[in-house]
Order: sequence, then C-alpha cells, then structure tokens
Amino acid sequence: WAAAARSVHQVVLASPRSFCAGVERAIAVVEQALRRHGPPVYVRKQIVHNTRVVADLRARGAVFVDELDEVPDGALTVFSAHGVAPAVRQEAADRRLPVIDATCPLVTKVHAEARRFVGRGDTVLLIGHPGHEETDGTLGEAPERIRLVPDPAAAETVRVDDPARVSYLVQTTLATDEAAEIVDALRRRFPALSGPGSDDICYATTNRQQAVTAVAGQADLVLVVGSANSSNSRRLVEVAERAGSRAHLVEDVGCVDLRWLDGATTVGVTAGASAPPGLVDEVVAALTALGAGEVSEHTAAVEDVRFTLPKEVRQP
Ligand code: F3S
Repeated sequence: WAAAARSVHQVVLASPRSFCAGVERAIAVVEQALRRHGPPVYVRKQIVHNTRVVADLRARGAVFVDELDEVPDGALTVFSAHGVAPAVRQEAADRRLPVIDATCPLVTKVHAEARRFVGRGDTVLLIGHPGHEETDGTLGEAPERIRLVPDPAAAETVRVDDPARVSYLVQTTLATDEAAEIVDALRRRFPALSGPGSDDICYATTNRQQAVTAVAGQADLVLVVGSANSSNSRRLVEVAERAGSRAHLVEDVGCVDLRWLDGATTVGVTAGASAPPGLVDEVVAALTALGAGEVSEHTAAVEDVRFTLPKEVRQP
C-alpha cells in the first residue's frame, strides 16, 4: 500500500452510502427470528446481496437456501428483502411453513402496482435485469402478462398485446438515467404508456447515485464497497464512471488493487445499500493510515426513512 498511497491526499465520502431502511429491516428480521426462536432459521436466497452480512448471520445460525424444497417441514423460514413470486408464497402456504416476510416495503409496492396494471388489462413492461431475484419475483405476479425490458435495444423490439393498454414498472435498484432512457424509448413506441404513481426506483438508490455523481466529479478514483451480485452497488460503479471518474467495486478493503491508487490524488468512497458501514470504515482507515491526510464528506441528501418490522418479530 505504502508506495501507491503516497499519491492519495484526500478521501471524499459520498453520503448517503451503505445500508438503506429495507436492508436494515431485513437483517433485523433474521436477527430477531434467531433471538426469539433460536437457530436454525431458514432464509430463502441471500437476505440481502452482501457476502459479509450473509456470513455473519450464517455464523449465528441462519441457513441460506435457494429454494423452499431445501427447508425441512415446519422450519421457520424468512423471505429475503428482494421479494418473492406468488408461487413461492403458495408453496410455503401449501407446506404450512411458518414464514416471516422480509421483503422491502418498496419492493412490495412494485408488486402491488404490477397486480393493479395487470388487473385493468395492461401488458406490463418491467424495466429490470434478467435473473435478478427482484425481477423474478415481480414477473411472477403474472408471467404471461409482464415482459422484461433490460435495455434500450429491448425497448425497441418488445411486443405488446394492445398498444393502447401498456404500462411500465422499474426494478428498484436501477440507474435513474438508464431507466429514464428506456422509458423515453417505450413512450415513443407506445404513446399511451402509463407508469407507476411515484418512481419505482427507491429513495436509497436515487440518493446514493446522486451522492456518487457529485463525488466522482471531484475524484480521480471511486471505490464502491459492495458485493458483485448487488445490483445497486454495480449501478454506483457505472454512475461514477459516467460522471467521469475511474471506479471499482470492492467486496472489502482486501480487494483494493494498489495499482488503482497510482496517480489518484482524490479518492471517492461509497457503498451500496446492502454493504455494512464497517466495511467502508476499513477502507477509509487503510487510506488514511497510508497517507491520505484529509477525509471529507459530500452530502447529497439526508435520510430518515425507517420501516417497521413484520408483526412476527416486532417488539411487544
Ligand atoms: Fe428497499 Fe431500496 Fe433498500 S427497494 S431494500 S430501500 S435499496
């Protein structure tokens, strides 16, 4: 680190960064379930997309599975923050599994919109990434009526049943600029297109992208703390690059490649909504210990969003 860090004079932290209200709630659900019921607590999919969070909960007795058929009969089961398709809920109900749903309320809102749009006869165009758990869950609301639109090229070719009855939804963790481009393309093809009442891209995604855009404008390099399967973390890297900085996604401080720091006078640091704040602290501590004399913070928004826990684990 020493030689490379000699060039780093200052660190600029993007704010907000790291945990959002939905991630804090989902982690608290598993922690409370473990406290009240004792291990094991089964969790379908990663509770949030972060390696460290999953490892910590696993060490305390959470068992992460891909599908419900890996859950023994009668075992307490948590649905992850990304949400599930109705078929998964039905499977749990058929097996009478005790379930606690840690789906982020802002993902639940998108599911409700999907049901409303489908219910009034629309073809629904879901702007999102294929294979992501959130889009899989939303598509599951009406697989025959919801079509995935992953990029602008798909917006030019997607087919609908009736161009007068088309609406769109957006994955909560997309880049706001990219989603807007896709919506524009869809609206050109389908002038009757209607959308969600308020933006589907959530407050946490929007705020973190605004903050990293400002930081990238003054940094030579931006380090984004987050896991490779975290959609919102990956979007932060792309947004920082579009704002003119070099940018890299790092799982933790051990993943920082020293060569990136060569010639970087100002290093921006942020973290995806699923990445624990402690991992950011470790990156900043390493940069300061090795020569970065100044640490400042750029605040794009102040967040005070909190979600109540599901009733099964709410404090009396
Ligand atoms: Fe929810 Fe947005 Fe976080 S959808 S889980 S508040 S990134």
